Amino acid sequence: MSNFLPSGLLSFSDSDRSPLSIRARALVFIDPRSRQLHEQVEVLAEGVQPLLIHAESGTGKELLARHIHRQSARTGLFVAVNCGALSKAHGAAELFGQTATHLVGRSSRAGWLGSAQGGTLYLDEVADLPLSLQQRLLQVLQHGEVLREGSRHSVPVDVRLLAASSLDLGLAVRAGKFDAQLYALLQAGLLMLPALRQRLGDILPLAEYFLGVYAERLDLPLPLLSEEAEQALLNHRWPGNTRELENVLHFALLVSQGESIAAADLQIVRD
Ligand SMILES: Nc1ncnc2c1ncn2[C@@H]1O[C@H](COP(=O)(O)OP(=O)(O)OP(=O)(O)O)[C@@H](O)[C@H]1O
Ligand SMILES: [Mg+2]
Repeated sequence: MSNFLPSGLLSFSDSDRSPLSIRARALVFIDPRSRQLHEQVEVLAEGVQPLLIHAESGTGKELLARHIHRQSARTGLFVAVNCGALSKAHGAAELFGQTATHLVGRSSRAGWLGSAQGGTLYLDEVADLPLSLQQRLLQVLQHGEVLREGSRHSVPVDVRLLAASSLDLGLAVRAGKFDAQLYALLQAGLLMLPALRQRLGDILPLAEYFLGVYAERLDLPLPLLSEEAEQALLNHRWPGNTRELENVLHFALLVSQGESIAAADLQIVRD
């Protein structure tokens, strides 16, 4: 890993070293709240139980999920699916797979679960999964087998589920939009990732980390942050969380062209 990483963070070892690839990213967790979450993650990562990452948008849910997958030493793939993007008509086949039939010229499909065999299925915005698919997913998790569309025989499946949500799933259960049993299962493995404004100790290490990532990628000298810039970063509430911080630092680096970063270089939208 490059030498721009602030001390105390967790670095990934991965064959994909492209600095912009999420696979090559380090997890900057310096604030005591983040360190506490990290300790919890280290304990839970190795198990096979489903986990739920609850956090606002842009906080690093997927990055954390990838970290858990790596720590778990599962040998299969990490498969990330945004539940809102599942097709309305073919969501069941996309998720659970389907068998081929010559009758209607349909080919077989492993489905997301089949693709994650031996690995981890990351379901982002799990509340967007239609209720009927939630119930089927629960069956799969409880019995360790999946019934593909068009088949009458279940096949064994070994997949660890990591779900993420920016919504309060308890409210969705009360509104009749989320299955109560799946909720109970996920809630037992709840990981709360605080918003960036609740982890002030992460802001400057993350800012330096992103400057390092983009300076390396753009082949620019690594600039320092002026004191005013640091204060501006610490004072902002970051409604878009870490992704917003990353975008602000990327832009500031381009504007400063390697010189020290001034507060005026930060495109912070006042809230
Ligand atoms: N702790 C962290 N250390 C380093 N980089 C981070 C950290 N948290 C987030 N990032 C970076 O911030 C960006 C957003 O992270 P990610 O995509 O994991 O968030 P998300 O919660 O899944 O977002 P969304 O709600 O939009 O799906 C990514 O570029 C990620 O690498
Ligand atoms: Mg995400």
